[in-house]
Amino acid sequence: MAPKKDLLGIENLTGKDISQYLDLADEFLKVLARPIPIVPALRGKTILTLFFEPSTRTQISFSIAAKRLSADIVNFSRATSSVSKGETLLDTARNIEAMKVDGVIVRHSACGAAKFLAEQLEAFVINAGDGCHEHPTQALLDLMTMKQHFGSFKDLNALIIGDITHSRVARSNIFGLRALGARVSICAPPTLIPLEIEKFGVNVFYNLDDIISDVDVVMALRIQLERQETGLFPSVREYRNLYGLTRERAARMKPKSIIMHPGPTNRGIEIDPDVADGAKSVILEQVKNGVAIRMAILFIHAGGKIES
Ligand code: CP
Repeated sequence: MAPKKDLLGIENLTGKDISQYLDLADEFLKVLARPIPIVPALRGKTILTLFFEPSTRTQISFSIAAKRLSADIVNFSRATSSVSKGETLLDTARNIEAMKVDGVIVRHSACGAAKFLAEQLEAFVINAGDGCHEHPTQALLDLMTMKQHFGSFKDLNALIIGDITHSRVARSNIFGLRALGARVSICAPPTLIPLEIEKFGVNVFYNLDDIISDVDVVMALRIQLERQETGLFPSVREYRNLYGLTRERAARMKPKSIIMHPGPTNRGIEIDPDVADGAKSVILEQVKNGVAIRMAILFIHAGGKIES
């Protein structure tokens, strides 16, 4: 595949495109296991993380990934920038690009913010989460983790539980899983499922206990407590009773099944603490894979070179 300039979403990627990221990330996992886990592949390149929303995992793992590839990394913080004086997204980016940045990793609350920047900038743009739209790098690390456990997506049954309507993680994972041939189910209260869900090619469940025993992968989404005030579900306690990954539900899952969560978790709401830390949980494997997949993404989009 000739790499596109930008990575804005999973929706327009083929299974082959996705596999290219996953296969390269496997190679970078080997680099990360070395005593000195650094390669000179992106020496001389400068990458900017431009995060207008909070992040722990995504921003830190992109920073580590860039350093492991010998790129220079600059981290933008909204709070201490001139955005707080009213500067626009585009002016911010253009000013930064004038300083000779090769790539921009952007997270923004507005759907389409990454696409907007990509159209304006010569630098490559990676979407690190745009509103409720897509979070492609999260989906790629999730797919990498599933592949490590199951080898193939052909007979895989994946279940995503929670606020599908507002989740960029759910959208990107659904697109990726479907492109790779997996079967995808979702489970949530009707108020948290998008109106035209049938267009996504997923099976819809409203009762978690009807499906939990049949799937290989269970992905719990963060309940966005900030939305609770809008009355999309009656109470946090009721949500936990109906849709929470409790110890009892985890015990009814298939023997080799895994539990995933993109983080940050609301322990005791969508996932109980002993399930998050239990034998089926691969949450920290997801985080570990995040560095390797982001190395692969940076390498591909920055035009990395393998030096012999
Ligand atoms: N999963 C995820 O995007 O985590 P952060 O918000 O910490 O980056």
